[in-house]
Order: sequence, then structure tokens, then C-alpha cells
Amino acid sequence: MASSSSLRRIGILTGGGDCPGLNAVIRAVTKAAILRYGWEVWGIEDGFLGLIRNRMHRLSMADVSNILTRGGTILGTSNKADPSRFAVGTAPDGKPVFEDVTNRVVEHVAERGLDAVVVIGGDGTMSGTARLIQHGVHCVGVPKTIDNDLMSTELTFGFLTAVETATEALDRIHTTASSHHRVMLVEIMGRNAGWLTLHSGMASGADVILIPEIPYDLNVVCDYCLRRSREGKSFTIIAVSEGARARGGKPVVDRVVHDSPDPIRLGGVSEVLCEQIAQRTHLETRATILGHVQRGGTPCAADRVLATEFGLAATRLLAEGRLNRLVAMCNGRITDVEIADVADKQRTVPPDHPLLDAARAIGLCLGE
Ligand code: F6P
Repeated sequence: MASSSSLRRIGILTGGGDCPGLNAVIRAVTKAAILRYGWEVWGIEDGFLGLIRNRMHRLSMADVSNILTRGGTILGTSNKADPSRFAVGTAPDGKPVFEDVTNRVVEHVAERGLDAVVVIGGDGTMSGTARLIQHGVHCVGVPKTIDNDLMSTELTFGFLTAVETATEALDRIHTTASSHHRVMLVEIMGRNAGWLTLHSGMASGADVILIPEIPYDLNVVCDYCLRRSREGKSFTIIAVSEGARARGGKPVVDRVVHDSPDPIRLGGVSEVLCEQIAQRTHLETRATILGHVQRGGTPCAADRVLATEFGLAATRLLAEGRLNRLVAMCNGRITDVEIADVADKQRTVPPDHPLLDAARAIGLCLGE
């Protein structure tokens, strides 16, 4: 096992979709590594792609100065570069050809003299990291994603900022819905997990919240809108997850990214529902897909603090020689878990989650 004295040089990368707070983690890790432990820090470019292509550069204190509030990632990222299944070309039928290039990564890590790599990412990135660990690359993980769907941590950084962004959007839609007496659907990211929709829907006082974990009944949703209308409520706000699906149906796919290890991109369910609700209720309806606006912008104060604490916890794990672990939040405290235990898993909203109970108690429709 490595310990603080045996570590000399670490790498750091951001993998998967970007989110607010990535730079705050990069800053915390780099500053603590240099100031507290005297390690060299190397920034790996574009996530695992930088390890595959051997693209990295040394980070100085100056490089990470003034980035705390900046959205995105100064290192770049990619959600298409899993070393164990990397698209190396295109077959004659137009389909990508995948290859396991993990050995290339192992070689580059050795060539650059990296004693360990801090991997900042979500479930896809942690699954890739677990495979690198099996090949002897020392890693520690930091949990990020606006989806908040990483296993074994109750909070990922980036989520709280995305909740603020989606809530503000829902609040803005509220005014138009009210002025024009419309049913307005707002489609929120989150893949197969409804955390972002549930939290922003509750925070904005949405009338209907549809999440992937509770397949909806279209009749129930339409009846709810009509009942509100009969009772003199002239509008209805529907917060709908991109992964929501009708009971017995499938999620709506926006696109297939063939060279990505996780190729399905969800999107469009709000537009489908918008048509269906208009036809059945004859109420005026509109749909807004929030999209990548939810991933951008400066992290909120809570995410800046969380990302900094997570970054520091990652350096502490390295210093203590507690490798191959993911920083995690459990019962409001920062702790850590085995990266192997979170690989290839997703944390969805459990049926007995207190927020679902709260939604039902105050008369919201969950489409059930
Ligand atoms: O995982 C983050 C996320 O924004 C999801 O909420 C969304 O489904 C997906 O990434 C979109 O991916 P892309 O940026 O490749 O369109």
C-alpha cells in the first residue's frame, strides 16, 4: 500500500458529463497535495481519453487559482472514453469498433510515474475506474453528477446546483402557466433516476411530478389536470424526468451515441406527453426541455463547500494509503466506500423515500 511518504506524483481527471463544482475539486486536491503533502499534481486531459492518449500536464498553484466559481472543468472531460471498451474506428457497416485499451492506460500511468490517480466522476467513470484498479492502477474516486444516482453516497456534488437551476426554471415557467392558463411540462435531466425532478419539483411547488421510478398512468395525469381546471386552478405545472415512462411503456430515447459505452441518451417525453394531454383534455399545453443548461454555470455555495471537502477527503485517503476508495456522504458525514462496490450500479429513488410521502401528503400527483 502507498502511504503519504511513498507518494510523489498524482494524476487527476474529470470523467463523464460535466457539472458545477468540478473545478472546485481540482483546486482543493491540487492545493492540498502541493501545500500539505508536497506531491506533484498532473492534470489528465479529457477524462480517460487523456490516459488513453497520454495527454496530461503538470498543475501548479497558479493553474488552480481563481477557478472555484467557474463551471465546467479546466481539464476537459469525455463520456465516450471507457478504456475497456474504447471506439477505435468504424466498421464497413458504419458501426464503431471497440477495443480494450486498458494496457495502454497502464503503460502511460507508469511512463508518467503517477503513483495514484484522483478520478472525479459518476457511475460510468467509477465502473471504468474499477477496471483500471483491477489492472493495478491506484485510484481514489470523488463522486460527481447532477443526477445524484451514484451508489453508496447520498449526495454527489453538482446535484444541489442543478436543483437550484431546475427550480428557478420551474419558477419562471410558473408565471407563464398562470398568466396563460396552460398545462406546462418541464423536462428535467437525471437519466433513470428521479432525484433532480423530485427535488426541484418539490422546491418549486410543481403540481405533478413524474419520475422514472414510478411509471405514470396517463389517465391519472389528465384527470388531475382537468380536476384542477374544474376547481378553478387555471394552470398545472408538470415536472417530468427525462427517464419517466408510461406504465407498461418504455422511456423516450432522444439519440443513440454509438461510440459511447453507455449509448442511450433520453429525452423528449415532455413533448410526447404534451400532445397526449392536449388531445385528451383540450387544455392548452406547452413543453420545455431544460437540457444541458442544468449542467452549466457556477456551483452554488453548498456545492463549492462540498466539492472542496470531497477533494480534501480524497487527498487524505491517498495520504493514508487507503487506495481504491470513493469519497462518499453517508448520514450527512463524509466517509468512503470501495470503488468496486459502486461500479455498474445506479441509485434510484426508493419507493419509501420521505419526499414521495411528503408529495402525496400535500396532494401532488405522482401519476400513480
Ligand atoms: O449524467 C448527466 C447527464 O446530464 C444526464 O442527466 C443526461 O441524461 C446525460 O448526462 C446527457 O448526456 P450528454 O451530455 O451526452 O447529452
